[in-house]
Amino acid sequence: KKVAVLLGGNSTERKISISSGHAVLKSLMRSGIKAYPFDTRDFPIMQLKKQKFDTAYIALHGKGGEDGSIQGVLEYLKIPYTGSGIMASSISLDKKRTKLLWKSAGLPVLPDVYIQKKDILKNLSSLLKKRFFKLDFPLLVKPNNQGSSIGITLVYLKNQLKNAIEVAFNYSNTILVEQFIKGTEYTVSILDEKILPSIQIITKNNFYDFASKYQLSSTQYLCPSGLNLKQEKKLKKIAKKAWDTLGCNGCGRIDVILDSNNKFWLLEINTIPGMTNRSLLPISANAIGMSFDELVLNILNKTII
Ligand code: DAL
Ligand code: MG
Repeated sequence: KKVAVLLGGNSTERKISISSGHAVLKSLMRSGIKAYPFDTRDFPIMQLKKQKFDTAYIALHGKGGEDGSIQGVLEYLKIPYTGSGIMASSISLDKKRTKLLWKSAGLPVLPDVYIQKKDILKNLSSLLKKRFFKLDFPLLVKPNNQGSSIGITLVYLKNQLKNAIEVAFNYSNTILVEQFIKGTEYTVSILDEKILPSIQIITKNNFYDFASKYQLSSTQYLCPSGLNLKQEKKLKKIAKKAWDTLGCNGCGRIDVILDSNNKFWLLEINTIPGMTNRSLLPISANAIGMSFDELVLNILNKTII
C-alpha cells in the first residue's frame, strides 16, 4: 500500500492540519506503511494518480478538505479515502444545515439566526430587530463553515453585535448567531460505528475558543468525563443518532454542551477531527486501550470506495 497523507491545504486551519497530518504520517511509518505527505496547497490532487498512490488518508481540516470537495475529486479519481463521503462531509461543515437535519430528527439544537452576506446589503439593523426576538444575550456569532472556533465571538451586548457579525463574515459568506448557554462542554468521538467514552472540557475562557484549544496550558480534558452512567448513556445515544442522521463514515467527533438543567445540546460535528498532540479523538481512543498508532490504522482501514 502506498498512502498519501493529505495535509495543509488552504483553509484557516492549515496549521492545525499540518500538525494532524505529520502526527498521522509518523504513525503510519511506525506501522511499516509506505506513507508520504501531500500538501494540497502546493500540488494538484490529480497528481496522486500519476504518483501511483492507492489510498488517501485525509488529514485536512476546514474548507477545501473537510467539506466534500477533495472527497469528490478522490471519488472521481477512484482513489479510496478515509473518513466521510461527499454529502456527509459537505453537510457537516455547514453548521446551519447540520442543525436543520438534527432538528428534523428530533435532536436537541440551540436556537439560532442564520444570516447571508447579501442580507447585509439590505438594512442589517432592521433585519436583526425582526429576527432576534427569539434569542437572549449572550450570543455566539459564528462563521457557518469554519473549524477550530476561528472567527467566533461571544457577544454580551447589543452594540457589540455588528462588529462580531463583520468578523464572522471575514471567514464565511454565511453566519450563524446562536444562543449561548453557560454550560459544560463535552465531546464524543465515534470510531468505526462505536461511540467512545466522552470527554469533559474545562476552559478558563468564556467558551472553548481557539486559544483554549491550542494555546493555553490551563485547558483540561477529563476522560472519564465525570458524567454518571445514565447521562453517559444518554449522551452516547444522542451522538449515535446525530452521526447516523448525517450518514458519516469512519471517525468523527461531536461537540455538545450540558446546561444547568442537565440537558444536552448538540453544537457541531467534525468529520476530520484533529489528530494533534492535544486533540481529543486520540484521548478517547486511549481510554478504550487503543494507542495512537492503532487508531490511525483503524481509520486507514475504513476507507470509502
Ligand atoms: N476542527 C478541529 C481540527 C477539530 O475539530 O479537532
Ligand atoms: Mg469544528
